[in-house]
Amino acid sequence: MGNDVKFFQGFWRHGDQVCGCFSKIGFGQVKRLVSTTACIFFFFLLLTAALVPWIHLPIKQGNLFPQMIFSSRSSIKKHHSRTEYPLNCSDSGLQQKCPNNYPLVFKPNKLSTETCLDYFRWIHHDLQTWKNSGITKDMIERGKSSAELRLVIVKGELYMEKSGHPFQTRDLFTIWGILQLLRFYPGKLPDLDLLFYTGDSTKIKKKDYQGPNARSPPPLFHYCGEEKALDIVFPDWTFWGWAEVSIMPWEQMLSAIKNGSKRTKWEDRVPNAYWKGNPNVSKQRKDLLKCNLSDKYDWNTHLYIQNWAKANEEGFKHSKLEDQCTHRYKIYVEGATWSVSEKYILACDSMTLMIKPRYYDFFSRNLVPMQHYWPIRSTSKCKDLKFAVEWGNNHIDKAQAIGKAGSKLIEEFLTMRNIYDYMFHLLNEYAKLLKFKPTIPLKAKRVCSKTIACSREGLWKEYMEQSMVKSPSDKLPCALPPPYEPQALQAFLNKKEKTIRQVEAWQAEYWNIGRN
Ligand SMILES: *[C@@H]1O[C@H](CO)[C@@H](O)[C@H](O)[C@H]1NC(C)=O
Ligand SMILES: *[C@@H]1O[C@H](CO)[C@@H](O)[C@H](O)[C@H]1NC(C)=O
Ligand SMILES: *[C@@H]1O[C@H](CO)[C@@H](O)[C@H](O)[C@H]1NC(C)=O
Ligand SMILES: *[C@@H]1O[C@H](CO)[C@@H](O)[C@H](O)[C@H]1NC(C)=O
Repeated sequence: MGNDVKFFQGFWRHGDQVCGCFSKIGFGQVKRLVSTTACIFFFFLLLTAALVPWIHLPIKQGNLFPQMIFSSRSSIKKHHSRTEYPLNCSDSGLQQKCPNNYPLVFKPNKLSTETCLDYFRWIHHDLQTWKNSGITKDMIERGKSSAELRLVIVKGELYMEKSGHPFQTRDLFTIWGILQLLRFYPGKLPDLDLLFYTGDSTKIKKKDYQGPNARSPPPLFHYCGEEKALDIVFPDWTFWGWAEVSIMPWEQMLSAIKNGSKRTKWEDRVPNAYWKGNPNVSKQRKDLLKCNLSDKYDWNTHLYIQNWAKANEEGFKHSKLEDQCTHRYKIYVEGATWSVSEKYILACDSMTLMIKPRYYDFFSRNLVPMQHYWPIRSTSKCKDLKFAVEWGNNHIDKAQAIGKAGSKLIEEFLTMRNIYDYMFHLLNEYAKLLKFKPTIPLKAKRVCSKTIACSREGLWKEYMEQSMVKSPSDKLPCALPPPYEPQALQAFLNKKEKTIRQVEAWQAEYWNIGRN
């Protein structure tokens, strides 16, 4: 962690703008149950691997879901397990050289495919802008000034060109994630050329590309989007870890939060709404702090400031996400834009009180009010929070059910397999729109897991080792469902809106009666 001082200087420098993305933090453990499940799962995997003969069919781009004939269990091979390719930094002199022992083609063991979850449908919507025009080299050139990374995949290998100063190591962990995707589905990613922005604010505003003489907007990959922007949403870096603030890769982090969540039964949790985060990054957050308990009024909240510099000095002992499942209600409030804290908050089994977000990430558009969270207006935070907590304490079963459903959704949506499948389909659909043949840019350099991870130290390296894909997937990616039908989408949005109006009506009723 020799780089901490530097990172935290970075934090301060960018503090107002960027680190607000994150709001709550905590840490955890919970692996016993998970590892038991994993063991059983793995056992089945081995069993299947032993029974089903491998079919050596390299799958090429454009031939995603080929018709294949299932062979019967005629040739039973025993003890057939997958070879693992862990990070090997032993020949440190050759750190910059990418090893060539990893499989180049994808040989899935299971050839059946399931349809991807519904939230994958947004992939089509996010690429809609370029559906007719396609994506030209000129668009990429014009988008460069908004991007920090240009990533090119040619023949299954990744090349990158960096410009600007990405915050902390967001860029590294994002590249790491894409490298792991290439290891998960070797040889299956098409050639492509894309631009990525790792900051908080959306970059490609719709209003800049309207009117009769408007040019077509450049495609830009980013972690979040909003109604007014065209940024293409992609999973954020924290799925592979946020080393600067000691947040483990998502799989480990989720397992820790689930463990922490088991420590306090729902009924025994503090019957208040909890939030801990850095308020400095947004007006919404500063505003939220006004709802804290004071000698004048009790809004049923417990709000705390997360000072990351101080937390770092203390070794993050008091900022662990897995120790923050102590309240029945947890507040989600956006930072500078979207906040990566959303998934950690939803994972606690507590009912999430969500202050109306303006931004979305790749999965959050499928969250449903009163099913996965309780909606809070940003214009009436304190009153809405107080009512939500009172309601929950008077309808314990319902509040608990909303909390559980939110956590279940996060667990189902955000398995690493789903994350990789989402990335795969997004990149695959994007590549179909390219009007040119991607080539390696002059200044780009080849990157692979070894060149990225072997020169790192401390948590940075640890998280990369933990989140590394050690062998190719044993099955095909899920099958991408078509876009939402416009009517179905409208009905979904209307239903959401109607539910929110219903809650607002209850709120109004509560406060009117309260006053009289
Ligand atoms: C889960 O929580 C228990 C009880 O707090 C703890 O003893 C155990 O180490 C945790 N497991 C993991 C994997 O973090
Ligand atoms: C790591 O790489 C070195 C050099 O290529 C090789 O000799 C060694 O066997 C490898 N170690 C493992 C554990 O694969
Ligand atoms: C909110 O109130 C609690 C209890 O009085 C206090 O411990 C905490 O520091 C307060 N938070 C802020 C942000 O002032
Ligand atoms: C927020 O900003 C104030 C004033 O600039 C500063 O004193 C405080 O330490 C900052 N808090 C955090 C958590 O960054």
